[in-house]
Amino acid sequence: MSKALDGVRILDFTHVQSGPTCTQLLAWFGADVIKVERAGAGDITREQLRDIPEVDSLYFTMLNHNKRSVTIDTKNPEGKQVLEALIQKCDVLVENFAPGALDRMGFTWERIQELNPRMIVASVKGFGPGPYEDCKVYENVAQCAGGAASTTGFDDGPPVVTGAQIGDSGTGLHLALGIVTALYQRTHTGRGQRVLAAMQDGVLNLCRVKLRDQQRLERTGTMKEYPQYPNGQFGEAVPRAGNASGGGQPGWILKCKGWETDPNAYIYFITQAPVWAKICNVIGKEEWATDPDYATPAARLPHLKDIFAEIERWTMTKTKFEAMQILNKYDIPCGPILSMKEIAEEPSLRKTGTIVEVDHPTRGKYLTVGNPIKLSDSPTEVMRSPLLGEHTDEVMAELGYSPEQISALRTAGAI
Ligand code: COA
Repeated sequence: MSKALDGVRILDFTHVQSGPTCTQLLAWFGADVIKVERAGAGDITREQLRDIPEVDSLYFTMLNHNKRSVTIDTKNPEGKQVLEALIQKCDVLVENFAPGALDRMGFTWERIQELNPRMIVASVKGFGPGPYEDCKVYENVAQCAGGAASTTGFDDGPPVVTGAQIGDSGTGLHLALGIVTALYQRTHTGRGQRVLAAMQDGVLNLCRVKLRDQQRLERTGTMKEYPQYPNGQFGEAVPRAGNASGGGQPGWILKCKGWETDPNAYIYFITQAPVWAKICNVIGKEEWATDPDYATPAARLPHLKDIFAEIERWTMTKTKFEAMQILNKYDIPCGPILSMKEIAEEPSLRKTGTIVEVDHPTRGKYLTVGNPIKLSDSPTEVMRSPLLGEHTDEVMAELGYSPEQISALRTAGAI
């Protein structure tokens, strides 16, 4: 079966996480992704957090599936010529170097346009234009500068970063959308363009509801669904809301049977208004369904802590899965706190290709997260990540280099 992005060639100049997330998605949709790395070293993540000596790390393998790897020293004059040939042949150049690195290599936007006016140049940077535009940025810096850390955690604790890689993988996702949009526009204009996804912007986009709350707070001085209401203090900025739900349906994380020894024996419980009477029945507080202090969402807001404490008395008598089964019967929205171990072993995720086992020539079998976006006409087959420079000769031959030329370039240290 053909793939959605068949025929699209990506010059993948990305490293670490944000850029590779983006190009991996494009590869899963069928693009030919040619990853350019430095000979001898490669993407720094190949050797970071290694669990097996001398073997590409899971950090690298899990972000670089379905790509080809070529080694080019892009600071060597002959290496630059190879890169120029690739720029002429490819549709998109994706990079996430520190600000200015591509220009310092001699590949300014103007130069790239000269070489290939149809080329789309897509970049992840830490910040957009402004006071921090020259800064190098990693995941947690973006989470802090994008508003996520100040709004995550509990009111009486410091800002907290989340394990979800919203700065890196989140921005990679944003960039991928920018690229396919630019490719679509190119079908009308015939021209390439620049695509920029700044990590601060990407994180802020994912924290959109918190900027909503900032303005609500400034207008009304309070937010009734926050745990600070009614007894705590609101300051000038959106506070950390613990596990409160960000929407209009109050929720919290509650202990389940076994919580004393299992750090993940918890459930997220939402007291959705339409099923309030059913919740009262399940937890044995039938009188709350009609009690004027509890019967309406507005009446319940000042009592949320007590309400969740009462529900927790019930959830603590059930495992998270037993609680799920009972609550789902009544359409009460809830979700178990699943550990990575439980997710890795979940058969339904294996069946849908969301968790995939991959075989690698030096690592052996490992698990990865497959394509979370499923296209009915463009199914994803997850292929192992390339070894460093595994496809250099193949790609050089496609560019028209003879075996003798390839070997001379290798001797000169250009590839
Ligand atoms: N041949 C020769 N030189 C190469 C090369 C190649 N194939 N590939 C990279 N280089 C060079 C670059 O030109 C650069 O050289 P310069 O500093 O002399 O201009 C150098 O390698 C290092 O690149 P850089 O991007 O600065 O790496 P770093 O390890 O110092 O910084 C980051 C890493 C992630 C902080 C930085 O790349 C960054 O801020 N990126 C943008 C934001 C981002 O994506 N962050 C999240 C990463 S998950």
